[in-house]
Amino acid sequence: MLKRTHYAGELSEAHVGSEVILSGWVQTIRNLGSVLFFDLRDREGIAQVILHESDDSSLFSQAADLGREYVLSVRGNVRLRENPNPSIPTGRVELVAQEMEIFSSSAVPPIHIQEDDKAREELRLKYRYLDLRKKTVMDRLRMRSRIYQSLRSSLHELDFTEVETPILYKPTPERARDYLVPSRVNPGKFYALPQSPQTLKQLLMIGGCDKYFQIAKCFRDEDLRADRQPEFTQLDLEMSFVEQEDIFALNEKLMATLFKDIKGIDIKIPFDRLSYAQALERYGSDKPDRRYGLEILALENVFKESNIGFLRSAVEAGDSVKGIFLPGTDLYSRNQLKSLENKVRTFGAAGLATLIFAPEISGSLAKIIGEKEKEALYSLCDEKEGIVFIISGKKKTVLTALGNLRTTIAREKELFDPSEHDFVWIVDFPAFTYSEEEGRYVSEHHPFTMPKREHLPLLDSDPSSVLAECYDLVIDGYETASGSIRIHDSALQAKVFSLLGLSQEQIEERFGFFIEALKYGTPPHGGIAFGIDRLSMILSGTENIRDVVAFPKTQDATDLMSDAPTAAGEGQLKELHLSIVQKEEE
Ligand code: AMO
Repeated sequence: MLKRTHYAGELSEAHVGSEVILSGWVQTIRNLGSVLFFDLRDREGIAQVILHESDDSSLFSQAADLGREYVLSVRGNVRLRENPNPSIPTGRVELVAQEMEIFSSSAVPPIHIQEDDKAREELRLKYRYLDLRKKTVMDRLRMRSRIYQSLRSSLHELDFTEVETPILYKPTPERARDYLVPSRVNPGKFYALPQSPQTLKQLLMIGGCDKYFQIAKCFRDEDLRADRQPEFTQLDLEMSFVEQEDIFALNEKLMATLFKDIKGIDIKIPFDRLSYAQALERYGSDKPDRRYGLEILALENVFKESNIGFLRSAVEAGDSVKGIFLPGTDLYSRNQLKSLENKVRTFGAAGLATLIFAPEISGSLAKIIGEKEKEALYSLCDEKEGIVFIISGKKKTVLTALGNLRTTIAREKELFDPSEHDFVWIVDFPAFTYSEEEGRYVSEHHPFTMPKREHLPLLDSDPSSVLAECYDLVIDGYETASGSIRIHDSALQAKVFSLLGLSQEQIEERFGFFIEALKYGTPPHGGIAFGIDRLSMILSGTENIRDVVAFPKTQDATDLMSDAPTAAGEGQLKELHLSIVQKEEE
């Protein structure tokens, strides 16, 4: 076998005059009759191979039969090209072939394997193994591998123990539905795939592990989005005898090493902190991207005595009037404003009012706004040219709509440098929110989170005002990690479960073993979990989680390549004591 001595994508002028063997796939072929060129591709890139019929006619005819994606090794000498190709890194050199070994032919591939192919994503996912041959696609997986390496080595240096926890387990509540696995040997019983190893890592702390981490697969049956997969990977960690500050310091160090290792950049630590309430108030989101300003302006005082009826009555009714100011002269056309308005309506806003200082005043409020209000607004905008967007209504709706408007505008107007990164801890989350839909309190993070000590008395009187010892790390507007200090007292844990509406029987059945474990001497402990897929998205600069997963699933949780999930055979169902009931027509 002709064994590779160099990668095609590594060839450079330094190799001129040497004999090398390359192995890979044929990307393109040009047969000019007496001279033939082909590009050979491997994971590092492509190199041009050249053959002259006059040099070796049998080798030439072997090459003339090649097709796209044939797999071969080729031995030859590297020389400078007569006509360099500046568009590829190896474009100054070529390989003059002397021997070839063809390993496989290829059917005509359904997608053209080159970087700028215009293939639909469905087709690329169906033929994911072909898509992976593209350097940009494979480079993301290779970056992900380096991410694992950096995280693992930092944590080993910090004396953490890597422990694997079971995949066939009991439900772990993380606010999604479980994937269930029927047990053949225990008829009618099911394992749940872990939504996270939450209880298991706490049990490891009770077991004296002290510092644990795991690169853990998690499974959640939930609505999928651009940054969610039904199975994804966490860097999960937990420590005993710690407080929030210890966890922050450790994870800041971990991120600083990671960003240095992967991107060669120095990030500033410690990270800023924002309370959940501040984040909502200033950015309309608990995962703000602060690389662009566009902070939310409170305009209730400006409009409390306004002639503009809908704004004044909003203030009078105790609702909110808030806005954002986009400075500059590159503003929006009337049509573009309309489509922004349509967009904020999808987030629940009743409408989007505008006032443009450019410098003559225009926009939907221009004709009706009073002089005093105009001046007050102008001074809030630092007396600059630009556009003020205003939304009134219920506080939560207004903030959410403006939060989404901020991101939309920042993207459309390219207001940030994607190579810069913004890290911020979000702290002081509410422990519980009341779910109208479920008619009960639900945990904002998960039920194992410690309420703030000073708020413990409120558990009985006013659960919705209890804040939790819980934090998120937001990077560039993505919730990248989430964690908390845990409850380590059995009675308090039982109380929280019952506050969440679980009956004594349900608590016993689902968490009895865990509440019992807490009784046998539990150290104070806390931890965090990073979404490695999201970290990989941020580090590789993509907004699509599927780009950083080797074999991703679509929005409806299917794998287009293998067609999973598929129906189970009658025999298999019987063995598992299951039968399929057709859903009745609604
Ligand atoms: P949480 O549920 O917030 O916390 O998850 C932690 C991090 O995991 C990532 N993540 C996801 N990534 C891709 N697809 C998904 N469907 C998905 N869901 C979550 C996010 C998120 O910040 N046990 C706790 C952690 C702890 O308390 O230590 C937990 O799982 O980046």
